[in-house]
Amino acid sequence: MLSCEQVKEKIKNISINEVVISGGTKDCEYKKIRIKRLEGKKGVFYQIEKHTENKVFHENTEQEKILDKIFENMYLGFKQCDISGDFNVLILMNRKREFTIASYKENKNFTLKTQKHNKEKNYILSDTENIPWLKELGVTDEKGKVLAPKQKKFRQINKFLEMLSDVEEYVSENSVIIDMGCGKSYLTFAIYHYFNIIKHKNVRIKGYDLKEDVVENCNRLAEKFGFKDLKFYCEDVANIQRGKEDISMTISLHACDTATDYAIYHAMRWGCKVIMNVPCCQHEINKQIDKKAFPLMLSNGITKERFSALLTDSVRARILTLCGYEAVITEFIETEHTPKNIMIRSVKKDKDPEKKADLKSELENTLKHYNISQTLWELVKNDTIFEKNIYGNL
Ligand SMILES: C[S@@+](CC[C@H](N)C(=O)[O-])C[C@H]1O[C@@H](n2cnc3c(N)ncnc32)[C@H](O)[C@@H]1O
Repeated sequence: MLSCEQVKEKIKNISINEVVISGGTKDCEYKKIRIKRLEGKKGVFYQIEKHTENKVFHENTEQEKILDKIFENMYLGFKQCDISGDFNVLILMNRKREFTIASYKENKNFTLKTQKHNKEKNYILSDTENIPWLKELGVTDEKGKVLAPKQKKFRQINKFLEMLSDVEEYVSENSVIIDMGCGKSYLTFAIYHYFNIIKHKNVRIKGYDLKEDVVENCNRLAEKFGFKDLKFYCEDVANIQRGKEDISMTISLHACDTATDYAIYHAMRWGCKVIMNVPCCQHEINKQIDKKAFPLMLSNGITKERFSALLTDSVRARILTLCGYEAVITEFIETEHTPKNIMIRSVKKDKDPEKKADLKSELENTLKHYNISQTLWELVKNDTIFEKNIYGNL
């Protein structure tokens, strides 16, 4: 075990690009703290971003004070600190505020970031960097500039990566991430890039889609760029089988209608730590629901459709909660970009929710009231794997 001063001594000569402080305790006010190296008019400084569930607070610090600031922020109730620089360092802190350096690796691809500080958004994928797969997927031009019609897509990819960075601590080295309904795979490539290129973390990524030509093209691109741990398969989400692998996370973005239910069902059965879903085309409940159950809302086509979509996603989030996940329904991107902007972001907590019996009867009563069945609930109810979760300890 090391003291704070001993750790500072060991890392004092590192050139730091970024620091992520994570693993907050239950009482910690913040979800995560990110510290970035920036250049302003008066020279280099570090910007500290403190993330709560839905807000980010900023503060700046001088370059000379960076080490003090790292520990000051860890003491707010965090257990882990990842430093990325010419050396990548992982520091762990126990309850007695004693430290271990869990990993200390030279970063051979290191270049000091000289990001300008301005009012522009600091994207994870920069809009000035030439990223070959973004060009091949038609997002950028030869020089790496984002094409006008793809600005929305570029923002969406970056927003997704920001959300991914909030849960990256649950994605272990050498684990697998599965993208169900990957389509052209902008996000699948982005996840690969984030973990394997930006974070130097070896993570295998698999994408599944129904369309054979799309899958073929994605495999061709992955091969072209030498992304050996990125593979695509032609398969219906409902039929995906797990190999002998540790699947830390699944995503499904805009996987149509009940494909999202199968995506969540598989992920829970496989015990994935993180499940990220942006559902779309939630037709199942819309087709069944009778306007008499709630005439004020259900007599109009648009309100019926939106109500059914929100009900579908609330039911899904409730099932995830009953199965031991902390499921948060959050906004993915601003509604001006797309109406399909809800994300269900779930992290496995391995413990029963409080008042589980009440949560379960509320779900069942709702389905009964609207006289509807819902695919994820049917799958979970009829699978013995979930018996303990949804019926145990009620
Ligand atoms: C709207 S696209 C979204 C693609 C990508 N996830 C994204 O957000 O950019 C939906 C994709 O899901 C695929 N899909 C729909 N239902 C599916 C199923 N049951 N199994 C596998 N793929 C499915 C479609 O072929 C399509 O490529």
